[in-house]
Amino acid sequence: MDGVKEAAEREGSGSVNAREPKIHALVTGATSGIGLSVARGLLSLGHSVFATGRSGPRLDRLTEESRGKEGTLYTLACDLARTEEVGRLIDAATGALSQRIDLLVNNAGLAIFGEVEEATLEDFERLMAVNLRAPFLLSRAILPIMKKHGNGLIVNISSVAGLEAWAGSSLYSMTKFALRGLTGSLLAEGAPNGVKAVAICPGYVATPLVSGAPVPESEMIQPEDILKTILYLRELSPAAVPGDIVLKRLGGL
Ligand SMILES: NC(=O)c1ccc[n+]([C@@H]2O[C@H](COP(=O)([O-])OP(=O)(O)OC[C@H]3O[C@@H](n4cnc5c(N)ncnc54)[C@H](OP(=O)(O)O)[C@@H]3O)[C@@H](O)[C@H]2O)c1
Repeated sequence: MDGVKEAAEREGSGSVNAREPKIHALVTGATSGIGLSVARGLLSLGHSVFATGRSGPRLDRLTEESRGKEGTLYTLACDLARTEEVGRLIDAATGALSQRIDLLVNNAGLAIFGEVEEATLEDFERLMAVNLRAPFLLSRAILPIMKKHGNGLIVNISSVAGLEAWAGSSLYSMTKFALRGLTGSLLAEGAPNGVKAVAICPGYVATPLVSGAPVPESEMIQPEDILKTILYLRELSPAAVPGDIVLKRLGGL
């Protein structure tokens, strides 16, 4: 598999959560913020993680720090704005994870804010490609794999901006509203085969994405809260599934 790097083969003994069977997870946007926290957390619990982002050096850093952790890490640097690279990711991840993916976290995303009148077609297309088309393509490829195994969880990281739009949020909100639409259909179509889909809609999370926000980091949701939410989803019994999970910041968005 071209470009796939395998970091460590340490599945088995001494996992932090020994009750939970080991899973195979694909996490996008795993080079920073929420995705990095989710990838790190899953690895610590002994799971196999296929982590991706554009930045090769940041994936290499994750590989370095994963040494000594329980799980198995595979990485591939790719640009999800490019359809052919999404295809390359699907091939590489399904190959590395032996055609079994239990958890897909569609997390990679970017935000561009500004009023509709000033929004460019280029920005529209970039946001649509990364925030929406890539999750669609990945879900379309991985849902059948999950259905075949009779279980699986697709987590789409939407936003409070996917529930409500404000002046200046149009492009970002459009993608995050639509991601919730995709999630609803994935859930309806996956349910007969035991596959769940959930959109997580957080307010401000302390990551580089919102480094310019008018809220101190200490008062923001922490990236680990998203990891904990995903672990909570995995612990629910097979018939239990929440709708969208809205994670608000105490005292505001
Ligand atoms: N932070 C918040 O307040 C907040 C709130 C609600 C929702 N969210 C959502 O949470 C998700 C994660 O954001 P974050 O806050 O963790 O931001 P972040 O720290 O900026 O991380 C964004 C991730 O997306 C990846 N990415 C961006 N463009 C990409 C592309 N073209 N191809 C492949 N990967 C790409 C980045 O990797 P590379 O740079 O290596 O490509 C990075 O790993 C996003 O979908 C965001 O909309 C964030």
